[in-house]
Amino acid sequence: MLKVGVFGVGHLGKFHLNNWKEIEGIKIVGFFDPNNDAAKEVTATYGIKRFLDEDKLIDACDIIDIVVPTDWHFEVCSKAVRKGKHVFVEKPLCNTIPEAKALVEMVREANIKMQVGHVERFNPAYLALKDLSLNPMFIEVHRLAQFNPRGTEVSVILDLMIHDLDIILSLVKSDVKTISANGVAVMTDTPDIANVRIEFNNGCVANLTSSRISMKKMRKMRLFQKDSYIGIDFLEKKTEIIKLKEPTDKNVFAFDVETPKGKKTIAVANPTITEANAIKLELEAFVDSILNNKQTIVNEIDGYLAMEVAHQILNKINNN
Ligand SMILES: NC(=O)c1ccc[n+]([C@@H]2O[C@H](COP(=O)([O-])OP(=O)(O)OC[C@H]3O[C@@H](n4cnc5c(N)ncnc54)[C@H](O)[C@@H]3O)[C@@H](O)[C@H]2O)c1
Repeated sequence: MLKVGVFGVGHLGKFHLNNWKEIEGIKIVGFFDPNNDAAKEVTATYGIKRFLDEDKLIDACDIIDIVVPTDWHFEVCSKAVRKGKHVFVEKPLCNTIPEAKALVEMVREANIKMQVGHVERFNPAYLALKDLSLNPMFIEVHRLAQFNPRGTEVSVILDLMIHDLDIILSLVKSDVKTISANGVAVMTDTPDIANVRIEFNNGCVANLTSSRISMKKMRKMRLFQKDSYIGIDFLEKKTEIIKLKEPTDKNVFAFDVETPKGKKTIAVANPTITEANAIKLELEAFVDSILNNKQTIVNEIDGYLAMEVAHQILNKINNN
């Protein structure tokens, strides 16, 4: 039985509690949250013990799950890692690059498992592509949300765009060559809306727009590669693949087009999406990596790399 302690039982922390309850081999020892109202609600609804001493909770657990505002990630992570506990920390890994570097070093020294909550890696619309060879040369992303004060302790780059940066860095096996970026702070002191172009050494270009001041929600990524177009709708959980039809393609919608190279048949496929709870999947994957001594799917280095690009973007925006 692995013992879990949850730090932060606000909006997302409660989703974590609900999921931990359903994972086999897990015992929730308790939670720590300085907010008395949040704590009262959780004690009443979940019957889980509230700890008033952070160290006592950490000492009583194997896993510390950190779901506190981003500007507290470093402090809570360091305490848990220094005590040799496995850590699941919500995205982004932390707030600043020196903090991220220090955490990577601490995790290495403590020899524990860390996973960062880049939950889109577990989105069923993305998982539906697992058997496809992805080698995008052009990526277009829109991640738009309505304004919500939660998450505004950091810019829209660290709050929302970080999800797409993590996915893109895991897909494009090449170093970043140049970044152009612009952004505007409208409702907070940091960019609330931003547009970014990232060029990679292998020629791939990613164009990302993120906003937390939109009227409508959207979470779409479009990948263009030599043989196909792939559309991923993270919000609606739909995936579309359009490519030249191959003789082995069965049961796909197809149509012919005349091209200078003769008639081509285009196939449109919508892979079957397996309904799944992405938060439960990421927490289960974390437990599996601990029990079977595997690499976590989004480890501290992945978290650091996404932060590094995010901060390059923020520097570009600040220079503009
Ligand atoms: N993966 C995702 O898609 C996703 C979505 C939303 C939020 N998040 C991340 O989750 C984290 C929490 O976001 P939220 O929306 O739940 O925020 P929230 O404000 O609703 O909840 C945060 C809770 O943490 C508590 N807290 C503050 N400092 C603490 C500390 N030192 N120790 C313990 N508890 C503390 C607060 O009292 C509050 O109850 C943020 O890092 C955010 O980026 C990730």
